[in-house]
Amino acid sequence: MTTGYTVEQLRAAAADAVRAPSLHNTQPWRFRLRDGGIELAVDPLRRLPATDPSGWGARIACGAALLNLRLSLAVAGTPATVRLRPYPGDPDVVARLVPDVPRRPSPAEQSLHGAIARRFSNRAPFWPDPVPADARWRLGEAARAEHCWLELVIGTSAVNAFAEIARSAHRVLERDPAYVTERTEWIRSEPSPDGVPTAAGGPQGEPQDLLPQRGFGGRNRAPGRDFEPEPLVAVLGSTGNTATDQIVAGQALQRVLLTATDAGLAVSMLSQPVEVPGAREALRLSLGRFGAPQMVMRIGFGQPGRATPRRPVGEVLDLPVVQA
Ligand SMILES: Cc1cc2nc3c(=O)[nH]c(=O)nc-3n(C[C@H](O)[C@H](O)[C@H](O)COP(=O)(O)O)c2cc1C
Repeated sequence: MTTGYTVEQLRAAAADAVRAPSLHNTQPWRFRLRDGGIELAVDPLRRLPATDPSGWGARIACGAALLNLRLSLAVAGTPATVRLRPYPGDPDVVARLVPDVPRRPSPAEQSLHGAIARRFSNRAPFWPDPVPADARWRLGEAARAEHCWLELVIGTSAVNAFAEIARSAHRVLERDPAYVTERTEWIRSEPSPDGVPTAAGGPQGEPQDLLPQRGFGGRNRAPGRDFEPEPLVAVLGSTGNTATDQIVAGQALQRVLLTATDAGLAVSMLSQPVEVPGAREALRLSLGRFGAPQMVMRIGFGQPGRATPRRPVGEVLDLPVVQA
C-alpha cells in the first residue's frame, strides 16, 4: 500500500473529474492534496444563488466528479477508500480519498473510465428507436451499484403525467427574474472554458414539445425536426435527501451517464421538476417511491455531438506553494 497520493496522481485524477456534468457548466469544484489524501470540495465562488440556493446542484456535480476521481484512480492501479463529508466543521469538503490496497482495475471500471471523455449532454431530438431491454437493465444496475434507484417512466400516460409536472416546474422557475438572469449569464456564444455553448444548447423549444427544454440560446429548429414522440424518461433517486445523500446521488448519476455512453446511448438532463419542491414531491408520489428524486434524464439514440469545454485543470487545484 502506498502512503499517500502524489501531486501527479492528483492532477491526472482531477483531469478526469472535471469532465463531470454541472448545472450550467459552472464546474463548482476544487481539488487538493492533504496529508496524502485527495480532497474534493465545493467551490463557494461557483454557486448559483438563484438557481441552486440550497447547494443541491453543486453537491450533485461534485458527486459526479467524485465518481470520475474514483474511476481514474482505480484504472491507474491506485484505487481509493472514500470518506464522504469527512470534516463536520467544513461541510464544503465533499470527500477525502486515501489509497487502498493496489489492484488491477475491473473490466467495468475500465469501460466506465473509457466513457468519461465521450460523455456529453445531448439536447437534440433522438431517433425514435426504443432503448433495448438489456441497456435499460444496465442503467438500473448502475444506479443500484451506487446505492440509488432509477425509475423508468414507461407508457404514454405515465410520460404525459411526468411531462405535466416538468412543464409546470419549468413555468414556476421561468417566472423568477433572478433565475432567468443567472441562466442567461451562463450561455456562451463565444468560445469559453465554462458555461453552456449555444451549439450545445439544443434547438429552441416549440409549443408542441412534450418536455420543457432549459433555454440555452440554441438554434431555431428546422421544420419537421421534432423531438421523439415517446422519450425514455428515467428518474434517479436516493433513499434520503441530506447533503450526503446528494453526493451519493451525484456518483450514481455519473455512473448511469457513463453506462449509457458505454452502451452507445445519448442523454440529456432536465432538473426543473427536482428544483421546485412541490414538483419534486408530485414526482416522487407519481412514482410511488420513498426517498427523493435527484435527477431526470431523457435517454435514447442521438446524433453525434461533442464534449463541452472545461477550465484547465490547474485552475481547480489548490496546490501547496513550494518555497524556492
Ligand atoms: C445538477 C444538474 C442539473 C442539470 N440540469 C439540467 C437541465 O435542467 N437542463 C439541461 O439541459 N441540462 C442540465 N444539466 C446538464 C448541464 O447543463 C451540463 O452538464 C453542463 O452544461 C456541461 O455539459 P456536458 O454535460 O455536455 O458535459 C444539469 C447538470 C447537473 C449536474
